[in-house]
Amino acid sequence: MSEHAEDLKSDDITGGDRPLALPAELPILPLRDTVLFPNSFMPLAVARESSVRLIDDAIADGKLIAVFAQRDAAVEEPEQSDLYPVGTATHIHKMFKLPDGSLRLIVQGLARLTLEQLTATKPYLRARVRAADEDTNDADRLEIDALARNIKTNFQQVVSLSPLLSDDLQTLATNITEAGRLADFIASSLTTISTAVKQEVLETLDVRARMDSLNRILIKELEVLELGSKIQSQVQSEVGKNQREYFLREQMKAIQKELGEGDDQTKEIEELADKIEAVGMPDSVKKEALRELDRLSKMPAAAAEYTVSRTYLDWLVTLPWAKRTDEVIDLPHTKSVLDADHSGLEKAKDRILEYLAVRKLNPAVKGPILCFVGPPGVGKTSLARSIAESLGRKFVRVSLGGMRDEAEIRGHRRTYIGALPGQIIQGLRRAESKNPVFILDEIDKLGSDFRGDPSSALLEVLDPEQNNTFRDHYLDVPFDLSEVLFITTANVLDPVPPPLRDRMEVLEIAGYTEEEKLQIATDHLVEKQVRNHGLTSEQMQFTPEALRQVIRGYTREAGVRNLEREIGALCRKAARQRAEGNEDIVVVTPEVVVQMLGAPKFLDEEMEERTKEPGVAIGLAWTAAGGEVLFIEASRMAGTGSLTLTGQLGDVMKESARAALSWLRTHAREYNIDPDFFKSAEMHIHVPSGAIPKDGPSAGVTMTAAMASQLTGRPVRGDLAMTGEITLSGRVLPVGGIKEKVLAARRVGIHEVILPKQNGKNVNEDLTPELRKDLVVHLVSSIDEVLALALQPVSTDVPRQTKKPARQTGHASPPSR
Ligand SMILES: Nc1ncnc2c1ncn2[C@@H]1O[C@H](COP(=O)(O)OP(=O)(O)OP(=O)(O)O)[C@@H](O)[C@H]1O
Ligand SMILES: [Mg+2]
Repeated sequence: MSEHAEDLKSDDITGGDRPLALPAELPILPLRDTVLFPNSFMPLAVARESSVRLIDDAIADGKLIAVFAQRDAAVEEPEQSDLYPVGTATHIHKMFKLPDGSLRLIVQGLARLTLEQLTATKPYLRARVRAADEDTNDADRLEIDALARNIKTNFQQVVSLSPLLSDDLQTLATNITEAGRLADFIASSLTTISTAVKQEVLETLDVRARMDSLNRILIKELEVLELGSKIQSQVQSEVGKNQREYFLREQMKAIQKELGEGDDQTKEIEELADKIEAVGMPDSVKKEALRELDRLSKMPAAAAEYTVSRTYLDWLVTLPWAKRTDEVIDLPHTKSVLDADHSGLEKAKDRILEYLAVRKLNPAVKGPILCFVGPPGVGKTSLARSIAESLGRKFVRVSLGGMRDEAEIRGHRRTYIGALPGQIIQGLRRAESKNPVFILDEIDKLGSDFRGDPSSALLEVLDPEQNNTFRDHYLDVPFDLSEVLFITTANVLDPVPPPLRDRMEVLEIAGYTEEEKLQIATDHLVEKQVRNHGLTSEQMQFTPEALRQVIRGYTREAGVRNLEREIGALCRKAARQRAEGNEDIVVVTPEVVVQMLGAPKFLDEEMEERTKEPGVAIGLAWTAAGGEVLFIEASRMAGTGSLTLTGQLGDVMKESARAALSWLRTHAREYNIDPDFFKSAEMHIHVPSGAIPKDGPSAGVTMTAAMASQLTGRPVRGDLAMTGEITLSGRVLPVGGIKEKVLAARRVGIHEVILPKQNGKNVNEDLTPELRKDLVVHLVSSIDEVLALALQPVSTDVPRQTKKPARQTGHASPPSR
């Protein structure tokens, strides 16, 4: 490195332990940007002309100089005020001369000096100096030791964290025993602290104070380093993650390419674009779809958004925007299909044919919303299904039973996780046609709660005026529902909200008579069940008597569902016999029925039995399941004039019981009842089948009859059923569901009924000739008439009459029964 190096011996000069023989005046070498500590070595570059001269002279003269740091490194010719007051006596160890005339030195600090007074400035600075003695107080010994230890640990950490400090420094520091020297050594090793700070350490003569301030410097340094390394590692891991992902993605692409899977995403997007063109969306929808597609094409396939957007587009392109089944309106054909599937149901079938006729003449007509109302098992759902078939349209069915959430009809907004369109749109996708027959089953079982009211969403669906722009929350584009033929079904209309009811055309499908059931069984159910059980009509047959026996003895219902089930049960037994090797044809007769199904479940005698005692009357009620026969029981016990009502009666029914009691108390004398009976009695009215809630005013006459019977001791006739609302003045008011009620009476073998006079119109219009045959109808307008008909004669020794000669009160009763 050098041309001219002089190895300078230092035998005569020592630092540290041995006292230094210090001349009173020394040449001063100003230092820029560095501080030289006693006992440390340091390389120096000397270029200033005056300084080169100084070194030359010094080497010739004992190699001892003084170095003082400059306050401002920029000053070229420093004076005393430009130098810090404390410096270091320095021995020049080595010197190299560089070709450009500048020097490189290795110097060793010896001891602290104070600059007293400059004595010369030319050719270089000289000054009077004085040794600055370190100040160690023995009292501080312990503290200094502790500080020294602390400093060593901190320094170790600084060294291990700092990339600039060599690890050897740690070992060197550990070996220094003298506290002041330790502080000097560390201060001079730290490369990051400023000259001013180093100078401060140099100037602190009190060892303890010096160590204190050094310790603070170390702690600060440590904090800075720790923070730095934290930032460093954060940055590193950030960069690492990104790089890793990038790397993996590139690898994946390469693998896909290798496997020939190419660019799936582009392919997918191209496919979607083709589909959007092909499905025939309206322009506004298409615009929306293309916008979404554009969004999709800019997303990475791995993004969660991607799937959401992709699913949405899938829905859009699979809906039947323009797909419809061709409709050939052929009335005779339709009629024959409807007739082939269902016996009876004339009214409903006629209505359908009328609708088709209108449509044929005016294809633009808006589809009506039909609502089939009737008890369970009368064929509402299956009729709707065969309407679809007869029209050659697709068929979808959605059960509304128990739906509580508006979103089930109209879908969730796309912002929800896992959002889907509502049932209407889902149904249309299933139908794959925009003009299917769409059945909304059980519309009376719609619920509603805090999640919204599904019926309000249905309002829009079912309104022909606005359903051509039905907007599902998920799709968020309008869909035209106007070509859909909606058919709804319900057991009763009461729970259906009036605005919804208003949009539908109600077709009542009443329960079936025994004859109708027999017809249905013969024409449809037997064949269907026999076939379903893997048998043929050659292997199994039913006699009409057997079917009648099943209808009477094993079912009690308005529809035919249980009948079908019992027929199924018979087929099952026959199938088993066959499977077990008995190849004989099975002919089901009434005896076979009993043999296979056990004893009949329902018997006619029950009626007579239950009304033997006074106080029990037979009423007719109307429920969602069709008509129903009710027993109303009244009893009297000692008490203080109270009325107890049990059997889960609704408020209206309770009130009619009170009205009945009041009427009886008013008219007690006319029936030979003690007018004061209620003072010492308690009446109890019970309607059995206590688990079933009952309500309505139509049991008024029955309750009156039951109480009158109890109070007079005259039993009520057991072959007579009644219905009618009462007033306090003793009038009988009309009630609903006449056909269902009469059917119910007929089912239990009752042929004589008391009905309000004002229901005479229903008797004429609603009852089929078959129903009216064998039926005695008494049309009454007052309670007196009811009691005259219902209560048995007073004398108890006359044997009880069960079959009375037919009486005729109303014009509706046929002459004989
Ligand atoms: N008039 C009929 N002719 C032929 N089959 C019938 C007739 N009425 C009902 N059925 C048969 O009775 C069964 C029950 O009918 P369906 O399921 O349509 O009843 P529903 O009126 O919809 O009852 P729910 O109110 O309980 O839904 C079906 O198998 C159906 O084919
Ligand atoms: Mg149904």
